[in-house]
Amino acid sequence: MTPDEAKEAAAREALQHVSEGMKIGLGTGSTAEKFVAGLGEMVADGLNVVCVPTSEATREQAESLNIPLTRLDEEPVLDLTVDGADELDANLTLIKGGGGALLREKIVASSSKQMIVIADHTKKVETLGAFSLPVEIVPFGVKATAMKLEHAGKWAGCNGALALRIRDGELFVTDNGNVIIDCAFGTIPDAQKLASVISTIPGVVDHGLFIGMAGMAILGGPDGLEIIES
Ligand code: A5P
Repeated sequence: MTPDEAKEAAAREALQHVSEGMKIGLGTGSTAEKFVAGLGEMVADGLNVVCVPTSEATREQAESLNIPLTRLDEEPVLDLTVDGADELDANLTLIKGGGGALLREKIVASSSKQMIVIADHTKKVETLGAFSLPVEIVPFGVKATAMKLEHAGKWAGCNGALALRIRDGELFVTDNGNVIIDCAFGTIPDAQKLASVISTIPGVVDHGLFIGMAGMAILGGPDGLEIIES
């Protein structure tokens, strides 16, 4: 089974949790894209749902498939959000934001009664942190914020290089007009402690740690699907 097939299998399983009339948050990334594609097929077959995308990229995909969209301002409580992850542990604590959409992803997930994570099995880890933690910050005072972030990381037992995200030789700018610092901590011994201290730093908009949000993860792999529930 290729990673792509594993993602597809997870996305197809997540579609089983969709029902008529639901308000759904649509995630971002290559796995969420497969869920959105499948949802588009269901909508074409007559399913009535209304969705909130977590990025402009997902919005474009959903629009191209004629999936009805709304805004959180219209529907502030959603039934279900289905999204990918960069890493997850057995407690369903996640690292997200590899695609840069972490802020809207977190706002949408936290506005949903249920969040299902879909991924290929390689995203499951013993301890989070091998994937660099994305932190979205405002563009004003980047260096000062980065220094505070580094100190905060050390206080929470996390050491490693911090790097301003560059994509294709250009500064990466989020859908919200902010920038991202990727923190290569290697290992995060206490995600809650790290999340709490990062959130106190002026200039930080949000971080990619999702704690206590996902109720279920569906992981595709060579041995079939693994379901983790919190
Ligand atoms: C987007 O910002 C991320 O949070 C994605 O959900 C995450 O990077 C997973 O993406 P893939 O499904 O492409 O691995």
